[in-house]
Amino acid sequence: MTAILDRQLLFVTGKGGVGKTTTAAALADLAAREGRRVLVCEMDAKGAIAAAFDLPRLQFEPTEVRPGLHAMAMNTEDSLREYLRVMARVPVVGRIGPLAHMFDFVADAAPGVKEILAIGKLCYEVRERHYDLVVVDAEASGHIVAQIDAPRAIRELVQVGPVRDQTEWMLRILADPARTGLVVVTTPEEMPVTETIELVAKVQATTEVDVAGVFVNRMLPEWFEGRDLEVFEGLRGPQAQALLAAALGPKVGVVFDAAALAQSRSGVANGFVERLRDELPKEVPLHVLPELFTKASGRRVVSLVADELQGALG
Ligand SMILES: Nc1ncnc2c1ncn2[C@@H]1O[C@H](COP(=O)(O)OP(=O)(O)O)[C@@H](O)[C@H]1O
Ligand SMILES: [Mg+2]
Repeated sequence: MTAILDRQLLFVTGKGGVGKTTTAAALADLAAREGRRVLVCEMDAKGAIAAAFDLPRLQFEPTEVRPGLHAMAMNTEDSLREYLRVMARVPVVGRIGPLAHMFDFVADAAPGVKEILAIGKLCYEVRERHYDLVVVDAEASGHIVAQIDAPRAIRELVQVGPVRDQTEWMLRILADPARTGLVVVTTPEEMPVTETIELVAKVQATTEVDVAGVFVNRMLPEWFEGRDLEVFEGLRGPQAQALLAAALGPKVGVVFDAAALAQSRSGVANGFVERLRDELPKEVPLHVLPELFTKASGRRVVSLVADELQGALG
């Protein structure tokens, strides 16, 4: 099995808000720190990867955000223009204009056409070896299968001709676990964990893309373990509480309730990690990233998560 960062194309998905963008940026950041040439791509043009690197926006043309790390925003029209120029050898000057309108017309009628232009661009970067690794802040879990499976959907639609030929080389890249992997990010909570288990099953059953790993992000620490827990339970007992209240006042109980709540939440989080261990297929690597308890955002958080990733990936 190929280690995550030794692959060439990683799609990062997950339920909204779990840390998908941060994890994608951190995987790219870590790979670049280790000396790889990396491209990180945001697919939805909402500027999340730009924000992760403290930039106002990204273009289709990659920007170098740190040595060896390039970032781009996917754009279907630019991708079509590049496709026409590079693959079909049709030079296009200026805006595509009427062609883009026609394209939109076709794309709306045939599902998968826009997706394949985006996936095609990413696979092209892999095929040409412009980068050692391409990391994609991909669609959220509800739409990721349509995104990564677009070439197969198109191949089934188109039986012969150049379009079919174009899908074959993409499928070879996407179906090769040494080159391509899907990373699923979750938090240790009910809904994201349930969606993760269902998504992994669906990806394995219906696509050829390998699941390279599941990351449990924002894991809470075990506040008290073993002997600490005994001390804590003792302090919560009526005698100790009476003594503490006599010395420190009636608010002592509130502090202990807060500590007990924090402790029970980390127990619940642990339960969800256990559930993932039980219900995910054994061959899917499971990694845990801690809650960072930071007010920082953007590049600073990405860098901290990359440090954690480095430890988690060994
Ligand atoms: N491990 C972590 N610890 C603390 N904050 C985190 C962690 N991972 C992500 N965040 C923060 O959570 C928020 C959502 O993360 P983001 O990557 O944008 O999620 P998504 O792309 O899944 O919607 C961001 O403010 C990010 O800085
Ligand atoms: Mg995001």
